[in-house]
Amino acid sequence: MLRLTLCAACLAACLSTVVLADSQWRAPEEVLQALIDDNESAYLTQSEQNIMMMPDNAALWVAEEGAALFSEPRGPNNVSLETCDLGKGPGVVDGAYVELPRFFADTGRVMDLETRLAHCMTTIQGFSADDPEVKTRHGSDSDMMKLQTFIAYRSSGLPWNPPLEHPLEQAMRDAGEALFFRRAGTSDFSCSTCHGQSGKRIRASVLPSVNEPHEWSKAISWPAYRVGQQEVRSSNHRIRGCYWQMRQPQSISGSDAAIALMSFWTDAARGQPAILPDKKR
Ligand code: HEC
Repeated sequence: MLRLTLCAACLAACLSTVVLADSQWRAPEEVLQALIDDNESAYLTQSEQNIMMMPDNAALWVAEEGAALFSEPRGPNNVSLETCDLGKGPGVVDGAYVELPRFFADTGRVMDLETRLAHCMTTIQGFSADDPEVKTRHGSDSDMMKLQTFIAYRSSGLPWNPPLEHPLEQAMRDAGEALFFRRAGTSDFSCSTCHGQSGKRIRASVLPSVNEPHEWSKAISWPAYRVGQQEVRSSNHRIRGCYWQMRQPQSISGSDAAIALMSFWTDAARGQPAILPDKKR
């Protein structure tokens, strides 16, 4: 146990030396603690155990594996992802995630991290959309989660800042807002039914409010290690789960609807620091 803890500590130190060049970067546990210190929130403080385990978050290992995958020549073209443009220029990873979703001129679309990664893996590395490297989206062992966790980690502590200059970025954000508040389905739920007020609970879980940016910042901090599932999960996985809870049709990763929701939810946390990767129930 001690050995594991020590290894996790040195891994965190190792990964962070890479990013410390960016003065805004902060370890996820420090970001969470600062939010807790500055705000009264039953949601932020609901799991003392999770807070204690943040420095040993298993998602840090997944980020480490993602770092190696990112720079490894792979796919039919045998090239790395170091020319992948995540919005801040080819190969720029630091701070890229907090500025997504955003408009990409080369595809003419607003894209979230997962969609953009799939695009880079197919166009740069030559994978096909059906290859497991691209298609398998869930679980700590998937390339997709390793890469996403690594890229997100390099934005920890930075303020959410999705661009809204392009008309399509504005349109997607607004469409996401409409989706968030639209009631539908047999239970007539909208996202806002459960996430519109602070302090609401479902059984023991305290739900985050979209109207409290300090809570919402943690809520949208994915990838996160879900203790109950023992896997690192993505934003798309969370959206799927919440649509399932609403008994509405499944959300499809990469669809404009899923990306629009993320455009809205990231805008709702604007200016608040990202906790990446997070640890959740
Ligand atoms: C029926 C109530 C309900 C509805 C409606 C609902 N959610 Fe959730 N949501 C939950 C629960 C429960 C959790 C998990 C909380 C936990 O595990 O502690 C959650 C978690 C989340 C989280 C992550 C929070 C965290 O603690 O990490 C986000 C983000 C989120 N929902 C967004 C949405 C969106 C977007 C919609 C609409 C598409 C939606 N939810 C609709 C109940 C709901």
